[in-house]
Amino acid sequence: MEITKTLGEFIIEKQADYPDATGELSSIFSSIRLAAKIVHREINKAGLADITGAVGNENIQGEQQQKLDVIANDKFKAALAARGVVCGLASEEEDCYVHFDDDRSKFGKYVVLIDPLDGSSNIDVNVSVGTIFSVYRRLSPMGEPVTEADFLQPGDQQVAAGYVIYGSSTMLVYSTGNGVHGFTYDPSLGIFCLSHENMCYPENGTIYSVNEGNYVHFHDGVKQYIKYCQMEDAKTNRPYTSRYIGSLVSDFHRNLIKGGIFLYPASSLHPTGKLRLLYECNPMAFLAEQAGGVAISGVESRTLELEPSELHQRVPFFVGSKNMVNKLERFLREFT
Ligand code: AHG
Ligand code: MN
Ligand code: MN
Ligand code: MN
Repeated sequence: MEITKTLGEFIIEKQADYPDATGELSSIFSSIRLAAKIVHREINKAGLADITGAVGNENIQGEQQQKLDVIANDKFKAALAARGVVCGLASEEEDCYVHFDDDRSKFGKYVVLIDPLDGSSNIDVNVSVGTIFSVYRRLSPMGEPVTEADFLQPGDQQVAAGYVIYGSSTMLVYSTGNGVHGFTYDPSLGIFCLSHENMCYPENGTIYSVNEGNYVHFHDGVKQYIKYCQMEDAKTNRPYTSRYIGSLVSDFHRNLIKGGIFLYPASSLHPTGKLRLLYECNPMAFLAEQAGGVAISGVESRTLELEPSELHQRVPFFVGSKNMVNKLERFLREFT
């Protein structure tokens, strides 16, 4: 791969556009970048070291916590705490938010929300997994302990969001509200290199991603939309292709590049949906909109405008190419 710019260089270059920037956000990215490299290393030796499988207890989500869920959570938490630039963290793997209260951190302007390992049930079978993160400005006064309200902000208040995909190559994709940019990791050099500047969702696509095993449990609008995807029509390139990995990061990343729609609806199995608003849906919705896509949680329900009521809240989530999500919304309106 031809080396263009490193992630570090790119961030410094962008920071020049904001004369008031203090470099704190850049430090958050440095922490995330470092933890991502460590998790990349751990994942790559997962089959050799004794780090696959479950820990043996459930997390707050009611899921079997995997060893790599715990490792990834610890690495990101430690990397963020060490630089003293964030005052608190909320994680899918923590029961409650974490307050960083050392002398530097308590004056941090930002909080971070994180899904340390997304798609962790795929780790034992060598399928792509990810990390999702989201950054907000704190609401509580600096110097005082963070409060839950610092974390329960609507997604449109995000200062930055992104993900790391540990796939056939490892990539970091992020946005600070000025487009979406992707960096591919070169493990021999230990650096992320700019490889996908200004990523844009194709307006149309031919891929739909949904756990179709749950079909009988879906509401009628979703069922009818899935039937629409499967119906033959040359003009709209149907039937569409079905692709579902079971790691949100991987499904999202593919659809962002190729054009498509991802659905995780509410169902009789998951009455409010399965994906977590704060750690999964909001950061992905922020990236989707920044890339020209659409993210909704129902009819006329823009995900980024939802008012969160609790840390581990789950919501239905539909994200992808603009024309595809708009079409789905018409089905939801008509059939529910
Ligand atoms: P996590 O591994 O962080 O708990 O997330 C799993 C999520 C998400 O990555 C994926 O899209 C979804 O669960 C898959 O759920 P199903 O297995 O129910 O399809
Ligand atoms: Mn989980
Ligand atoms: Mn997840
Ligand atoms: Mn997870």
